[in-house]
Amino acid sequence: MQIQALVAALALAVSVHASAQGPIVIKFSHVVAPDTPKGRAAERFKQLAERMSKGRVRVEVYPNSILYKDREELEALQLGAVQMLAPSLAKFSPLGVKEFEAFDLPYIFPSKAALYAVTEGPIGRELLRKLEPKGITGLAYWDNGFKVMSANKPLLAPRDFQGLRMRIQASKVLDAQMRALGARPQVLAFSEVAPALRDGVVEGTENTPSNMYTQKMHESQTHLTVSNHGYLGYAVIVNKKFWSGLPDELRSTLEEAMRQATAYEKTIAQNDNDAALEAIRKAGTTTIHTLTPQQQAEWRRIMMPVYGQMETRIGKDVVRAIQRTVTR
Ligand code: LMR
Repeated sequence: MQIQALVAALALAVSVHASAQGPIVIKFSHVVAPDTPKGRAAERFKQLAERMSKGRVRVEVYPNSILYKDREELEALQLGAVQMLAPSLAKFSPLGVKEFEAFDLPYIFPSKAALYAVTEGPIGRELLRKLEPKGITGLAYWDNGFKVMSANKPLLAPRDFQGLRMRIQASKVLDAQMRALGARPQVLAFSEVAPALRDGVVEGTENTPSNMYTQKMHESQTHLTVSNHGYLGYAVIVNKKFWSGLPDELRSTLEEAMRQATAYEKTIAQNDNDAALEAIRKAGTTTIHTLTPQQQAEWRRIMMPVYGQMETRIGKDVVRAIQRTVTR
């Protein structure tokens, strides 16, 4: 009896100590607006994680590069200053994992179904495993969508890009893609794009409609082409030491919260982009063009050499494996 009382007293002391320490905090930093597919899924993960862990975890979401810009956030994650990020797949090469740039290849995914066959299959898992030696654990792929192009002139034929200063993410594949079109690519962090378009530092850009609309990029772009020439998506990543240091059962709870947030993200990404394109149309600032099948074929033809130029950098095996999966 005495021993039981002692055990109970000890258990109480331990739990008081745990709650006195407060919840485990996960800082989740990202660069886009809260009302984008990534922003909303980050909030959903927060709600799920806090509820399912019964308050043992607190998730603090920092949107819009409040804490860090593109490159800094990766460094902050490795240093443990933040615990969770969801950078676009175009931004992983500074970590030395260039294989992710395969996702930037022009017209690589004929559909979302083909994309999911890659991200949810062995290729997707293998790519995430490549992050482990960098001190990073990959948890999930989140979706955004296919990109559009914008500028202050109609972009209908490759010659329309001649000499245009186009903002890109820091990906060599995107650099090669813009050069294939005859444009002059310029890497800028996401938070710098809207001001750079406004001030004429760059003349055009590519992105998804949801990113363009929520950053008000359309307000300084008079033309937009629905080209679907490339894909923008994310990997949700955590600091490996932090993640593996969590109690097993709490980590499982958070993995389940991430599974549910990821499923939710997939259901909203397309709708958010469709709604954003409609909102840009309604704003009246920007003429929206759709390419004819002949124009599409011409864009594709001009961009195809990018595969040959970039496959050694990305890794031929990865590119071939993706190509085989998407045509299955
Ligand atoms: C960009 O820099 O254009 C995107 O990667 C931003 C994002 O996270 O969607």
